[in-house]
Amino acid sequence: MASVKLDASQPIGLFDSGIGGLTVARAIRERLPKEKLIYFGDTAHLPYGDKSPDSIKYYSIRIAQFLLDSNCKMIVIACNTASALAYETVRDFVGKRALVVNVIDPVVTKIMAKPKLKRIGVIGTKGTIKSGIHAKKLVEANKNLEVHGLATPLLVPMIEEGFFNNKISYAVIDSYLSRPKLKKIDALILGCTHYPLIKKEIEAIYKGKVPLIDSGDEVAEYVYHLLKKDKLLNTSTKKPIHRFYISDYTEAFEKNTNFFFNEKIKLEEARIWK
Ligand code: DGL
Repeated sequence: MASVKLDASQPIGLFDSGIGGLTVARAIRERLPKEKLIYFGDTAHLPYGDKSPDSIKYYSIRIAQFLLDSNCKMIVIACNTASALAYETVRDFVGKRALVVNVIDPVVTKIMAKPKLKRIGVIGTKGTIKSGIHAKKLVEANKNLEVHGLATPLLVPMIEEGFFNNKISYAVIDSYLSRPKLKKIDALILGCTHYPLIKKEIEAIYKGKVPLIDSGDEVAEYVYHLLKKDKLLNTSTKKPIHRFYISDYTEAFEKNTNFFFNEKIKLEEARIWK
């Protein structure tokens, strides 16, 4: 594929199954306030956690094409399920047309920098946990690590429905975290981009004794270094105007976006499947 000259003024594209990836967009906006963001939430196919790897690959490629058509210099797969099942497919499809980042490698790098951690827990969707991607990458990097993954499929619909910071969400999270697999862990990876929204509850359940590793900050730092290395950091002094697309519009999504991005945003429908 012919090499394409990327330019610092081009936007960063991000995608997720829904609005969970806005937690990653928020972290990137905070770390890199000059970058323009184009977000795509595939609400028509939410949740990704239960879909087959072939479907996730198909959706991811179509969305990557949408972000390329939107002139993005980088595509951040702001979803653990799509990162686990479709990262290589997207990277090969995009080639040199943009940089491609997943949300798992930056977390692995973070854990490698903390040699005291030995027993790591991971919570995520069925697709992410079934892929065993965290365990594979972590044990490949350090064979002394013990990785225990638990699928927590009730959490995404619960969060999407706005159920967090209340008694019901606390009880659901507590019942997952009290499983024997997650006992005596040194750290817990929040292996789904929705989970930063329930971080407070998880911290309360572990009484602050288990460090939580969520992808947002790690990915933002990773993106910063990658853009810097390739001289692609946007230095414009104009305030960037971000765009937020979803593939199936409902008012409920618009209402919830504020929590995820921590700012009022306007969702536009991109009819890529209709
Ligand atoms: N936020 C996504 C993730 O990180 C996916 C949730 C879903 O659609 O099941 O895995």
